[in-house]
Amino acid sequence: MFVMKILVLNGPNLNLLGKREKEHYGDLTLAQIEKNLKKQAREMKVHLEFFQSNYEGELVEKIQSAKNKYDGILINPAAYTHTSIALRDALIAVQIPFVEIHLSNLARREEFRKRSLLSDLAIGVISGFGPDSYSLGLIALIQFLKRR
Ligand code: DQA
Repeated sequence: MFVMKILVLNGPNLNLLGKREKEHYGDLTLAQIEKNLKKQAREMKVHLEFFQSNYEGELVEKIQSAKNKYDGILINPAAYTHTSIALRDALIAVQIPFVEIHLSNLARREEFRKRSLLSDLAIGVISGFGPDSYSLGLIALIQFLKRR
């Protein structure tokens, strides 16, 4: 049986969720978000792997190693959203469809957060729903992959 495989990537400082700027990012920890998302994925019969790093190179390597292993990527690139040509190039190289997600609504925040170096490559962007951005992003990615 074909089982859809999705890689969930989280960028720098997201390991501090639950303690960090709760007004922007809510009070769930990344471990709680992971637990909820894995439950949702199980119900949708999708295999999910979760990975967080504070290092750009580690995220690049994880994306490179995803080729031929994952059908889709759900990514919260965190601050690298606004700076990383390396993540952009890695996503272009592997050609795996991805959804970009953010806990906060970037359109309501500082000017420098309004530019994403990744979103023009994404299937779409979900931003502003707190931890629900993860579950909404997962649903959107699965729908896209099923319709392809
Ligand atoms: C974020 C938004 C980014 O601008 C910020 O650097 C983050 C989190 C979000 O989920 O809202 O670390 O990606």
